[in-house]
Amino acid sequence: MILAHRSVFSLLSLLRVALAAVHFQSPSDLQGVEYDFIVIGSGVAGGVVATRLGENQDFKILVVEAGPSNDDVFGIQVPGLQPNISMTGTRIDWNYTTTPQTHVGGIVDTYGRAMVLGGCSSHNGMVYTRGSRDDYDRWASVTDDANLSWDKIFPFFFKSETWSGPNDPSLPEIGHYDPSLHGTHGNLNVSAPYHVHPLNDLMVKAIQELSQSSDEFPALLDMNGGRPIGMGWGQETVGGGFRSSSATAYLAHTGDNVHILLNTRVTRIVPSTDGHLSNDHPNASSLDIRSVEFTTSQTGPVYNLTAKKELVVSGGVINSPQILLNSGIGPKGELQALGIESLIDNPSVGKNFSDQSSLSVGVSTSLPADDFNTTAALAEWLESHTGRLADPPFLAPLGWVRFPATANPFKDGSQDPTAGPNSPHVELVFKNIASTPGQETSMGNATLIMTVININPVSRGSITLATSSPFDAPIIDPNGLAVPIDTAIILEGVRSVQRLFSAQTFSSSVFGLVTPKPDANGTLTDEAIVDYITHNMKPYLHGVASCSMAPHGADWGVVDPEFKVRGATGLRIVDASVLPFVPSGHTQAPIYAVAEWASEVIKSSWK
Ligand SMILES: Cc1cc2nc3c(=O)[nH]c(=O)nc-3n(C[C@H](O)[C@H](O)[C@H](O)COP(=O)(O)OP(=O)(O)OC[C@H]3O[C@@H](n4cnc5c(N)ncnc54)[C@H](O)[C@@H]3O)c2cc1C
Ligand SMILES: *[C@@H]1O[C@H](CO)[C@@H](O)[C@H](O)[C@H]1NC(C)=O
Ligand SMILES: *[C@@H]1O[C@H](CO)[C@@H](O)[C@H](O)[C@H]1NC(C)=O
Ligand SMILES: *[C@@H]1O[C@H](CO)[C@@H](O)[C@H](O)[C@H]1NC(C)=O
Ligand SMILES: *[C@@H]1O[C@H](CO)[C@@H](O)[C@H](O)[C@H]1NC(C)=O
Ligand SMILES: *[C@@H]1O[C@H](CO)[C@@H](O)[C@H](O)[C@H]1NC(C)=O
Ligand SMILES: *[C@@H]1O[C@H](CO)[C@@H](O)[C@H](O)[C@H]1NC(C)=O
Ligand SMILES: *[C@@H]1O[C@H](CO)[C@@H](O)[C@H](O)[C@H]1NC(C)=O
Ligand SMILES: *[C@@H]1O[C@H](CO)[C@@H](O)[C@H](O)[C@H]1NC(C)=O
Ligand SMILES: *[C@@H]1O[C@H](CO)[C@@H](O)[C@H](O)[C@H]1NC(C)=O
Ligand SMILES: *[C@@H]1O[C@H](CO)[C@@H](O)[C@H](O)[C@H]1NC(C)=O
Repeated sequence: MILAHRSVFSLLSLLRVALAAVHFQSPSDLQGVEYDFIVIGSGVAGGVVATRLGENQDFKILVVEAGPSNDDVFGIQVPGLQPNISMTGTRIDWNYTTTPQTHVGGIVDTYGRAMVLGGCSSHNGMVYTRGSRDDYDRWASVTDDANLSWDKIFPFFFKSETWSGPNDPSLPEIGHYDPSLHGTHGNLNVSAPYHVHPLNDLMVKAIQELSQSSDEFPALLDMNGGRPIGMGWGQETVGGGFRSSSATAYLAHTGDNVHILLNTRVTRIVPSTDGHLSNDHPNASSLDIRSVEFTTSQTGPVYNLTAKKELVVSGGVINSPQILLNSGIGPKGELQALGIESLIDNPSVGKNFSDQSSLSVGVSTSLPADDFNTTAALAEWLESHTGRLADPPFLAPLGWVRFPATANPFKDGSQDPTAGPNSPHVELVFKNIASTPGQETSMGNATLIMTVININPVSRGSITLATSSPFDAPIIDPNGLAVPIDTAIILEGVRSVQRLFSAQTFSSSVFGLVTPKPDANGTLTDEAIVDYITHNMKPYLHGVASCSMAPHGADWGVVDPEFKVRGATGLRIVDASVLPFVPSGHTQAPIYAVAEWASEVIKSSWK
């Protein structure tokens, strides 16, 4: 009996192996297969596109990923270990920094970007938010393509997602999300993880209290219904106590017609010389670009391969423009100045880079620290995939505030930068209550660390090349706070935090701001807050728009609504870089959905 069971299991595991994507650790391991599609980068978008294309068993797909497998780093799978694996400069990060930020006291920030199977979905904060319906409708309007509207993209959220239940069956889930807004048959595990902390119940009481006198903090059952305004519970790409990523939820479930080449960096894309024509039939005004050059190190041999059908660039908001620029696709003058031969003159590549701005503030509180015994928690996770490490490292509430049109930021006549009335201006994250030495206030209270984020920045930055070497980091300039309204919105967000904690409910547990520090009389002036913002603002790592989509025939932008690179055939970009504006939320959920849509576009053009 036991033996029979065993053989069934080993048969199943054999089947699993035969059905899984094939991994190669180095280009020299490739087996001379001719690929229909080559996908550059295995992040959120690359993982989705490769997996969906692979559903056609006739297609052979190669994914080229610069980093190692997600399975090589233990902490990736454990939600609560996110802080341990997401710092820059590790073996799974590109170690990027920004230029000195002119409007933020000249500070140089790190700019985290994962270099591992699954891309940033293997190390990000797992927050799952779709943004507002207005965001999608603005993309549709800016690109003149109704297919990007909220109503058209909405089914792709369902397609990509499986609601994955509570992280601990004894904890509340009813009332923490709206089941009608979530898919149950998709790839990605999404849930509303929760752990008990007194802040949770106080928050529920406080928003009841505040709603008597103001509409700034309405209760929000589910922030993924297209109008994310109010206080609710965070949702995360977590299921069964594990992080869910494009590597675990997509690439781990492909057929063996999907090959994954790890530890290999694409250095350039080049015109193809194989005589195969893509289905676009190149003409005098377009170049057929279906070949990639790649290598494992700066000094190693350079390999090349040509896709029979198409290349899909999914290197993310920093690396996709870098790959194009290194290949001669970009502003001709800028590239020639670096000695790069121009292939396609396009002044938009790397421009219009947009990222949200985040400000960390500290609030004095007598609530208990949200600490836990890491040794015991790790033992519990290893035993049963439950406990504090089965949950991401934040407090469960998450807030989204929309200021009224008459509020401070707009009093000077500044235009509202949001995409519409369903969009919040700021996000409020309740990160942690720290008892770490040095973080207590002088009164002996703990500090609630919060993040106030301006989610609809007007300022735009750029990604440019420092040299012609693909191994040199590009110049990353988010250019945060270049436009005054961006600062004014964070200032008003700090005032929102003060208004939230002015609730009577918090009178004996949460006190005033300690960072930025009030003056001797306990007052925080606008000037003091702005001074703090303009020295401490950080990019929120939700960058988009460096290879923006634009309407067919537009004189700006990098891709058209079919994700095709202007002036080229056989070449598309699918990732964060094509989104023209940041969504008013975090970026991964929109990218999963847009990549699902892009996959349909690509598949349908090869029917
Ligand atoms: C620390 C951090 C926390 C975040 N937290 C959240 C969060 O909580 N919620 C949320 O929604 N979003 C979050 N984000 C943002 C989100 O993860 C990204 O917006 C999203 O992953 C972008 O997807 P992408 O497909 O555009 O590219 P990425 O996910 O960045 O993937 C790009 C992939 O391409 C590979 N690549 C690049 N260049 C090359 C090359 N030349 N050759 C081969 N491979 C290459 C990279 O190694 C990488 O694997 C966070 C980001 C960071 C950095
Ligand atoms: C994670 O990082 C914390 C803080 O640095 C440390 O205490 C803990 O031991 C780390 N856990 C693991 C499993 O590496
Ligand atoms: C990361 O970059 C910094 C410079 O910004 C450099 O000092 C450091 O050595 C780099 N780390 C790695 C692992 O390459
Ligand atoms: C986008 O939508 C339009 C109709 O609004 C449709 O005609 C077109 O084919 C769609 N684009 C793609 C690539 O499917
Ligand atoms: C996670 O998602 C997969 C689908 O990819 C599903 O089969 C699995 O049951 C989900 N896990 C949980 C805990 O819901
Ligand atoms: C591609 O590689 C082959 C050897 O594998 C080489 O002969 C050829 O010149 C290379 N082509 C380009 C465009 O580099
Ligand atoms: C930046 O985007 C705007 C549209 O939002 C567009 O009008 C402008 O031309 C773009 N700039 C570049 C350099 O592409
Ligand atoms: C943490 O948990 C471990 C394992 O259960 C235990 O041995 C240790 O004493 C605990 N540490 C503290 C500070 O409670
Ligand atoms: C915490 O701060 C508040 C307000 O400043 C103060 O009233 C209270 O005594 C402090 N609590 C402790 C334990 O010091
Ligand atoms: C505090 O208030 C007093 C009395 O109103 C005033 O004289 C003093 O300048 C104030 N101090 C600060 C730092 O604003
Ligand atoms: C040539 O290709 C370009 C780029 O794909 C396209 O925009 C243009 O319409 C094509 N022209 C003809 C005559 O087919």
